[in-house]
Amino acid sequence: MRAAFASRTDADNPLAALTVGEQPEPVHPDDDWVTVQVRASSLNHHDIWSLRGVGLPADRLPMILGCDAAGIDPDGNEVVVYPLIADPGDPRGISILSEHFPGTFAERVAVPRSNLLPLPAGMSLTDAACLPTAWLTAWRMLTTKGRVDDADAVLVQGAGGGVATAAVALAVAMGKRVYATSRDAAKRARIAELGATAVEPGARLPERVDVVVETVGAATFDHSLKSAAPMARIVVSGATAGHEPTVNLRRVFAMQLEIVGTSMGTPDELRDLLAFCAERKVRPVVDSVVPFSRIGDAFAQLHAGTVFGKLVVDHTA
Ligand SMILES: NC(=O)c1ccc[n+]([C@@H]2O[C@H](COP(=O)([O-])OP(=O)(O)OC[C@H]3O[C@@H](n4cnc5c(N)ncnc54)[C@H](OP(=O)(O)O)[C@@H]3O)[C@@H](O)[C@H]2O)c1
Repeated sequence: MRAAFASRTDADNPLAALTVGEQPEPVHPDDDWVTVQVRASSLNHHDIWSLRGVGLPADRLPMILGCDAAGIDPDGNEVVVYPLIADPGDPRGISILSEHFPGTFAERVAVPRSNLLPLPAGMSLTDAACLPTAWLTAWRMLTTKGRVDDADAVLVQGAGGGVATAAVALAVAMGKRVYATSRDAAKRARIAELGATAVEPGARLPERVDVVVETVGAATFDHSLKSAAPMARIVVSGATAGHEPTVNLRRVFAMQLEIVGTSMGTPDELRDLLAFCAERKVRPVVDSVVPFSRIGDAFAQLHAGTVFGKLVVDHTA
């Protein structure tokens, strides 16, 4: 079947490690697994990390990439695929599709049947394909980890990213005052259209915030600390710009800050997110929808950092 996969890894030039071509049909490691016909998928920075070899050792190659999918189950139902699989061999106890088990950038993907959630009424498969990774991560950052119900103001760093645009859209829909940084003036203009107050990286905010959504890392972490109100939660799910920031511990204890790590979310959190988006008519921020034949261009755009929101792949084109 047609697929986009890591044929090797390349830490310096990840795009050179991407191959689009034929891969074997999915196999079912257990009786409860089913095959989904993928209709739409979306890219995440995780796919770039995989091509760099982060979390993808040579003995698992070739590996079909892609964490997100929506499609059709064996009974003909439209479904959203929850991308985490129980994985006793992994120190986290789970792995995400494309780490141990083949990913979603293919005509078909196999997952346990319990990983399938019904597509909410009124939601398109292309919109749904944005939600299981970046949007689920943002949802858990705000809700379970950030306890945003107790917050008035939220700061989102690196606002052009998939997780970051999700966090802005969700926090605005929750009625919070949202500040968002971006290095790019055009992205700041677009994030303001979503209802956030857009600022340059490092800019002083008009107020301290109760929750910070941090996926950038070293380039923004000091600003996250400085912008945090007493007892604030700085929730970290990524470190695109470096994972070893300098941390002013005096500020951490004096302001009684919580620095909280998180990854992805639970199936129940994905169910809650789908319901929230359906009820509030919140739709993912989509940069563009590209046909599968142009998936390489989408990877190049994500790598270049010029994306605003999610890059969606249409598997029917
Ligand atoms: N732990 C998890 O479960 C989980 C889930 C999803 C994602 N993640 C991680 O979260 C991060 C973001 O993922 P994503 O898919 O949203 O990525 P993305 O769409 O590629 O977003 C990255 C954003 O980071 C900002 N950025 C990059 N380099 C920067 C720099 N040097 N200085 C300041 N800002 C910079 C950019 O914002 P501006 O251009 O607007 O400044 C860019 O839009 C990745 O590291 C990813 O691995 C983790």
